[in-house]
Parts: sequence; C-alpha cells; structure tokens
Amino acid sequence: MTNRAAKRFRARIMHSLSPEKVEDIRDGVLEVDDSGRIVSFGWADPMSNAQVQEFPSRLIIPGLVDVHSHIPQLDARGKHGSTLLAWLDRYILPAEMAFAEPRVVDDVAVRFFKKLILNGTTTAGLYSTVHAEATNRCFEIAQAAGVRCFIGKVMMDRNAPAGLLETTADSLGQSEALCAKWHGAGNGRLRYAFTPRFAPTCSFELLKDAAELARSAGAYLQSHIAETLDENDRVKELFPGHRDYVSLFEDAGCLGPRTILAHAIHLSDDEYRRLAASDTKIAHCPTSNFFLKSGRMSVRRVEGAGCAYGFGTDVGAGTSMSIFTEMRHADYAQDEHSIPPAKALWLATMGGAAVMSMDSEIGNFAPGKFADFCVLDISGIDPVYRLDALDTDELLSLLMYRGDSQMIESTYVAGERLDVDAISRAFS
Ligand code: GUN
Ligand code: ZN
Repeated sequence: MTNRAAKRFRARIMHSLSPEKVEDIRDGVLEVDDSGRIVSFGWADPMSNAQVQEFPSRLIIPGLVDVHSHIPQLDARGKHGSTLLAWLDRYILPAEMAFAEPRVVDDVAVRFFKKLILNGTTTAGLYSTVHAEATNRCFEIAQAAGVRCFIGKVMMDRNAPAGLLETTADSLGQSEALCAKWHGAGNGRLRYAFTPRFAPTCSFELLKDAAELARSAGAYLQSHIAETLDENDRVKELFPGHRDYVSLFEDAGCLGPRTILAHAIHLSDDEYRRLAASDTKIAHCPTSNFFLKSGRMSVRRVEGAGCAYGFGTDVGAGTSMSIFTEMRHADYAQDEHSIPPAKALWLATMGGAAVMSMDSEIGNFAPGKFADFCVLDISGIDPVYRLDALDTDELLSLLMYRGDSQMIESTYVAGERLDVDAISRAFS
C-alpha cells in the first residue's frame, strides 16, 4: 500500500475494463488520496494494519452516469396519452413555465439532485429551462449536492409559448453569462452546456451562434434529434434548405466531440456515419422512447456506424431516475440484438463518461481517476440474494434486470460521501 492514500474502502468491487470485460474483486480495496483521486485498486491485504472503511457484504461499482435528463420535468413524469409534440405542449412546457418562480425551482431541483444521488448517479448531463435565474439556482443546488454535471439553460427563439419564448440575442447573451460563471466551477465538477432545445424551437442563427459560443468556451452543446417521425417532418418544413436532419446540425456547426444529441432514432445509416465522423455523442433514452412510443434506436445500426452512446433517463418522458432501468430497457428495445449485462454496465459508467468527455477522469477505478462510486446492498431488493453466492455474470445480470434505488446504500464523489439531507438543509 502506498502512503499517499488518505482513505481506503474495502468491499467486493467491480468495474468495467472494456465493453466486454468486467473486473470483479471479491475482497477489494480502493485507495484514495486527499484530492479524491484513486491511488490504487486491487485485492485487500489481510495482513495490512492500515485504516480501512469496511463494507461487509456490499458491492462497490463506479458512480452511474446519466447523460440526458431534465431537472424541471421531475414532477411531470408519467402523464399518459400523447406522443412527443403534443406531450410537450400539454404537460412539459407548462411545467417549465413554473420555473419562473424561485420557490418552485428550489423545491423541484433539491428533490431532483437528492434522487440522483439516491439512485447512485454521480455524473449527469442536464437541462434547466429558458430561465437564466432558475438555471443559476440549479447550478448552486448541484454544487451543494456535490455531484458532477453539466447543465444548460434551454434556448428557444421560435415556436414556443409566451413565457418561454426568448429573443435570439437574450438567449445567447444569458447562456454566455451562465457559461462564464459556471463552466469549470466547483473544482471542475460543474460544466456548462449550451442547450438549443431542438431544431423546431430554434432559428438557424441561434443554432449556429450557440455552437460558436460553445466551441470558443470549450463548453458542451446538447440538443435533441430525430426522436419521432412527426418531429422529423416538422424539421423538414422549417428548414427546407438542408439535405437531412444531421446536415442541419452540420451546417450550423453544431457537431463535434462535446455535442450530445438525445434519441437519434429516426436517422439514416449515412447520418449515423456523419455523427460518428464528427465524434458527436448520442444520449440513448430507451425508457423515454417506450413511454412516448417514439420508436426504438437500433443499437446495431448506431454501433455499426461507429457512434458513441450512453444512457439517459430523459426525465420526465423517462419515468425512472435509475440508470439500471435504462440498462434493461436498452436490451428490451432491441429486436434483433441483445445487450449483454457486462456491456450494459460499461455503457452506464465508462460509456457515459466517454459521452460526457470525462472518461479520463471517471467511469472506472483506474488509478488517477476520481473515486466516484456507489455502495450497493443487493439484499435491499430481496433478502434472498447473498452477494458472496453470486458469480460475476449472475451479479451483473441482477444489477441489469432487478437493479433500482433500493440497492443503493450510499453514493460517493471524489471519495466523499454525498449527504442528501445536507442539500435540503441548505435550500429549505
Ligand atoms: N424534444 C424537445 N424537448 C424535449 C423534451 O423536453 N423531452 C423530450 N423527450 N424530447 C424533447
Ligand atoms: Zn430530453
């Protein structure tokens, strides 16, 4: 053991080495330095007298990564009966209007970040609303929560209801100011994502200038693409001069390694290839896609084109805040293809980290990365499960098909336990 370690965590510890390969150490120790980075990870030394935090009968896995969700939509989950465009008008935009009121922002955002932590999610890509003040408050709450995330003020300069409609200049100016304040804040845990909602509510100028601002700040850009066929038709009507949906984003300069596009269901193979060539990332949100009957993203076609993707809960079209739910739904959504549990764990951790361009910092327990992890008690889902009785494949399969928030006992970022009660105390 090295003397640089300030903390040691002992448990069964599992993480992904590749999409196919999981390392599962039944009696493992994770050593973490003062800055929260991993010094070493390996078998526990029974002869060592170093101080260790013991987690008997517990499993430690890397913190889960949710690459796409909407803070203001927390309480708009599970509203039956519409497909995307009608659902947005009927339920979502009214819920987002309520973020003009600071008390609503505090109430919803505090509960959102608590739930994120209780679900073992340590890193997330998030949307706020068009409101600059609400977005600023979401950053403050995220900072108090201690999670890693990027957040963006939603940008909409056309086809939005009064109350959410902005001028192009205001949208850009407010986003730029928020980016200047928050991108890299909180010891680098907080980042900014320019967030043109989706093409139907944005002018070409807004898309182009948002992309330019994101590029010059080294920030992210997030949006939605090709979630439903009706959306694709609307984009064709609104932007007739572009070859296809991806070329609209291409022509606006929106593609690149720090761009995350949600859904990407109804695209051609050529469009997937162009997303891959620009290293643009996809947020795959299967629970949301089932809920809104949007269609099924073909993992075979997306992977065939070489596109990188991670899992997004897409709350409130997604009804669950658990990345375990996305792991199984990603498999259920595939007709001709199966996602093995080892691959699902990789996507939920390393794959998500890569989508967020954070794979050199988080995603597994390689020395030098931050010690972001969750401690799982599998008897929480059913006392019949005994950790030491399960081999690696059985355990992975259990996480994928039975995993939920009940399993999550505690959540750590950079070696520090996140305290959900402290968030409420700070913002009540
Ligand atoms: N497309 C544009 N806005 C949204 C949103 O809020 N949720 C989903 N699922 N799709 C969108
Ligand atoms: Zn979304």
